[in-house]
Amino acid sequence: MSAAAVSQILSSCSATLYITGNLVKDGLVINKDEFKLNKKDKNDYRSFIIVRNEALQYPICIYRFGETEYTALWMSCTHQGTELQASGQYLQCTAHGSEFNNRGIATSGPADRNLRTFPVSVDNNELFIDLRKS
Ligand code: FES
Repeated sequence: MSAAAVSQILSSCSATLYITGNLVKDGLVINKDEFKLNKKDKNDYRSFIIVRNEALQYPICIYRFGETEYTALWMSCTHQGTELQASGQYLQCTAHGSEFNNRGIATSGPADRNLRTFPVSVDNNELFIDLRKS
């Protein structure tokens, strides 16, 4: 494998961060710093991270819009329940091509319902994803 191919794999791996989060009563807790990209002194942030936890049937994609604004989206296609793939600001379904934006709105069918979302609250350096409500 060439060095260019290896670096392409490495950079594509670093594009998406998967974390397990901390399962607590009623929800999940993650550290806000998970969004930080440690590029020297600049404060750069990932636009999203994906939480996979064995207690969850599907992963949850968390988009960051600002210091206190996040969305948490259940990565289950509302068409027939295929697990979605995150691609930048969109979530795509490989089964029949549905697409959802970073707020969970269905933007392309056949899915015609928006994604399930969970409230996210910010407490100091932690995000709490409330799994009781959607
Ligand atoms: S299951 Fe996702 S588009 Fe059909």
